[in-house]
Amino acid sequence: MCGIVGYLGNKKAHPILLDGLKKLEYRGYDSAGVALLENNIIKIFKAKGKVSDLEEKIKHVQLSADTGIAHTRWATHGVPNEINAHPHVSQSGKLALVHNGIIENYNVLREKLEQKGYVFYSETDTEVLVKFIEDVYLETGKSLFEAVQLALKRVVGAYAIALISTEMPGSMIIARKGSPLVVGLGKNGEFIVGSDAAPIIRHTKTVYYLDDNEVAFLQKGKEMQVITLDNKRISPLLTELDLSLEELEKGGYDYFMLKEIYEQPRSVYDSMRGRIDTEKQLVRLGGIEPYENHILEADRIIMVGCGTSWHAALVGEYLFEELARIPVETEYGSEFRYRNPIIRPRDVVIGISQSGETADTLAGLRLAKEKGALLLGVCNVVGSSVARETHAGVYTHAGPEIGVASTKAFTAQVTVLTLMALRLGYLKKNIDLNRYENLLCELEYIPEKIERALQSDLLVQQIAREYKNARNFLYLGRGINFPVALEGALKLKEISYIHAEGYPAAEMKHGPIALIDENMPVVVIATKKGNYDKIVSNIQEIKSRNGKIIAVVTEGDKEVARLADHLIEIPETDEMLTPLVATIPLQLLAYHIAVMLGRDVDKPRNLAKSVTVE
Ligand code: M6R
Repeated sequence: MCGIVGYLGNKKAHPILLDGLKKLEYRGYDSAGVALLENNIIKIFKAKGKVSDLEEKIKHVQLSADTGIAHTRWATHGVPNEINAHPHVSQSGKLALVHNGIIENYNVLREKLEQKGYVFYSETDTEVLVKFIEDVYLETGKSLFEAVQLALKRVVGAYAIALISTEMPGSMIIARKGSPLVVGLGKNGEFIVGSDAAPIIRHTKTVYYLDDNEVAFLQKGKEMQVITLDNKRISPLLTELDLSLEELEKGGYDYFMLKEIYEQPRSVYDSMRGRIDTEKQLVRLGGIEPYENHILEADRIIMVGCGTSWHAALVGEYLFEELARIPVETEYGSEFRYRNPIIRPRDVVIGISQSGETADTLAGLRLAKEKGALLLGVCNVVGSSVARETHAGVYTHAGPEIGVASTKAFTAQVTVLTLMALRLGYLKKNIDLNRYENLLCELEYIPEKIERALQSDLLVQQIAREYKNARNFLYLGRGINFPVALEGALKLKEISYIHAEGYPAAEMKHGPIALIDENMPVVVIATKKGNYDKIVSNIQEIKSRNGKIIAVVTEGDKEVARLADHLIEIPETDEMLTPLVATIPLQLLAYHIAVMLGRDVDKPRNLAKSVTVE
């Protein structure tokens, strides 16, 4: 949560910092602030609300600083207001700090500092950290860099920080543990720091992803120095970003979410690209190849994720059990990590995460690693913590996802899980060869079928208009489309703030059916194959209680057509692949309702893109 940006160079810092913050706003957007080092004075500007509010505040101020740090916040400690907004300054006012993460022992540190006469103005752990760093600096008489190292060694929790000081003009200290941090090495010795590469790409493609426990000293025009908390000097391995600026822009769409929904034919194709050898009818997943034997011998697979990624994991469970016949358990990261799960060395744990930074998923993976399991990652962000902390993995290659509501990341995750299930089923000889080849062939048509599913957009808009004022929605699906129902409901609630619940269709009669009346829209995924007859019966049950039925059906469907109030047709595909296509109209429905209700689709209230706190 929270985004941090830093700039050090020969240009004016504040426009670069504001632009960077806008790119990181998806990480949090309840307040923002900037600290600029100008003529040996630190100038701080803060605003409650979005980065545009901060921009408005400083647009008429004459500023010339070429060094600065900035922050966009998702509140963890203390309400969103200007006092709690970052940057925070030290007691003397000489240090300013931005921070992403949580300092768990901040209360103990704060008490000790208060006993020494320190005064606190905010409720944040960050103010404690900057004051603690200054305290260590003054007490030990060491350099500021060393003081940062010493202070961070005594800190419990997660952080990515950027620090400037009036005593170190033209310099900045950055550090990370548990929260992501990237530094871009620009022309003429300039440095751009970001929570991810988005603020950097405009300036340079050469970056260094800091590792946990590393502290870097950046000095304008000089070589970057990276040293661990234990004083080990690191030769930073620079990476060239494989990302373009256009990927980070809306490209003519009103919202990133809509752009990302429409990108799915391409992103699903990219998730498969180079991984299916059509001539030899083979799936190749280079990342996990060295571990295939280990995976084949696994007693079971545990999939761990949160939110949409958990829904993808659940689709994965159906895929792996059906196609590879390997037992799978799907776990919420947050539950898994705290309930002392039984994990054996012959278990394989797959962490699924778009950002690769979700705290609960990471904690679950770390726990499984301690217990000796093999860890695999399925994530989108290259170089993220999930990618680094797992033994092997498969990137989803969906491209940057900026909208807080996950869309293309979900279909990319499901695509990768399908490939994994097919590969393992084939190696285990647990899948009929004909079925295997048909599925491989059908997979290649999926991008085209998603394209066709997107043509329901206008119809979905009309449906959205009719139901936008509903107070509740039910989403029903069976089998592999049950997780799709969950995902449809999550999309609607998170961006439109309408209550929605996903259910296995047959479970409806065990309770939720009591909710059904003429005011309850029920979205049913009722594609052919699988449990079609059964779902038709469920639809009849809703119909006889006057519920409004919005059915997602296979093109040409006649039976559900007689019962449903609205029919959204999608192209036919193998049952195991329907989640990839059936999800599309549900994403569009959520999107249009949210737009019609005037919601901020890309930045829904109370949310952030990557949840790096427990
Ligand atoms: O980055 P991750 O995939 O690990 O994120 C997990 C969830 O926080 C995320 O999917 C969240 O539920 C989205 N807002 C859903 O649209």
